[in-house]
Amino acid sequence: MTSQKTDNPAYSRKDHWEHVYSGKKSTEESWYQQHPQHSLELIKATGADASARIIDIGGGATTLIDLMLDAGFQNLSVLDISHNAIEQAKSRLGARADKVTWLEHDITEFSPDEPYELWHDRAVFHFLTDKLDRSSYVRTMSRALKPGAHAIIATFDLNGAEQCSGLDVACYSPDTLLAVLGDNFQLVETSTEVHVTPRVSKQNFVYCRFKRVVR
Ligand SMILES: C[S@@+](CC[C@H](N)C(=O)[O-])C[C@H]1O[C@@H](n2cnc3c(N)ncnc32)[C@H](O)[C@@H]1O
Repeated sequence: MTSQKTDNPAYSRKDHWEHVYSGKKSTEESWYQQHPQHSLELIKATGADASARIIDIGGGATTLIDLMLDAGFQNLSVLDISHNAIEQAKSRLGARADKVTWLEHDITEFSPDEPYELWHDRAVFHFLTDKLDRSSYVRTMSRALKPGAHAIIATFDLNGAEQCSGLDVACYSPDTLLAVLGDNFQLVETSTEVHVTPRVSKQNFVYCRFKRVVR
């Protein structure tokens, strides 16, 4: 998938992702995971109970939401910039889609109405290569999480990739990610995952779990 951004300055971030999700099947996208087990284990490790208010940022068509419903989580929201992605996820889930709150937003412009107890983001933050976008994301995440709440962010690690979906990405170590998030967050645990894409190439991810601290 190649971005048309360079050919057309009016081509927006939303246009890009709508185009991605109107093209190939989500199971063919490089980031696709049949069983996002690593995320699920980190989510369970937070001790979040079944009623916890949880948001998956840039969830796209991920099957994580299916696993979380299977695990009994009852208060799930999925935010994504792409209407097409959300429709794909809803269609896969069928009637179970009604148990999820779907939020079609750009995370850099999102303003949550109530706080969340858990924030999960796999493979979204690393697309924010602009400093102002990163600042907006961090400000929103800080406001959205109550003190003691957790954030799990998975990005390409320092040996990850230079591009994904035809877009530039920023790569992180736990320390550089914490430096971007700032003093409102404390690093609780980190782990790595070698993601094998549907085309059988390898991508190195780092997963970090942070706690929102009282300030
Ligand atoms: C690489 S995919 C990862 C999807 C999913 N998290 C997963 O792990 O399978 C990136 C997702 O983030 C969404 N996205 C990209 N930029 C976004 C933004 N600024 N705000 C909200 N969603 C965004 C895309 O539509 C896409 O679904």
